[in-house]
Amino acid sequence: MNVAIFPGSFDPPTNGHMDIIERAAKIYDRLIVAVLRNTAKKYMFSDQQRVEMLEKACEGIDNVEVASFEGLLVDFARERGSRIILRGLRAVTDFEYEFTMALMNRKLAPEIETVFIVTSAENQFISSSSIKEIAHFGGPVEDMVPKPVASILRKR
Ligand code: PNS
Repeated sequence: MNVAIFPGSFDPPTNGHMDIIERAAKIYDRLIVAVLRNTAKKYMFSDQQRVEMLEKACEGIDNVEVASFEGLLVDFARERGSRIILRGLRAVTDFEYEFTMALMNRKLAPEIETVFIVTSAENQFISSSSIKEIAHFGGPVEDMVPKPVASILRKR
């Protein structure tokens, strides 16, 4: 069984993330969306909220599981029997960060491959940080995030 891990902060999940999740779910037998719990990092949403938002957004995609992890991503991948780390790639700005992270993970775990899926053109400009900023100032984010995320942002 081909199990892929799609890791991230997902603070909050966006349509860009969902685009990758929906496409990857068609390629792999099982996709684990892995939410990072990092006590040293300040998130807008708690671990539980990020997991819940993703679970709601992924309802109906049968082979997708949402989990959270702390520590090294490669350790989590090994624990879950996955040899594939999946990342979405937007334009050139993501490249350096993703390239370094892929090389580091390969150094730590040579048996695990990082695979990139290029984000769809309509989602290239969407990032969790811009969503947070727009929502903070009361701007419209409905077209850029899954429905359950939009309603949580509105309540905030
Ligand atoms: O959505 P993000 O913030 O770009 O995701 C980054 C993430 C969670 C994939 C990355 O920070 C990560 O894997 N953190 C776990 C710690 C780790 O394994 N670090 C070594 C790789 S550089």
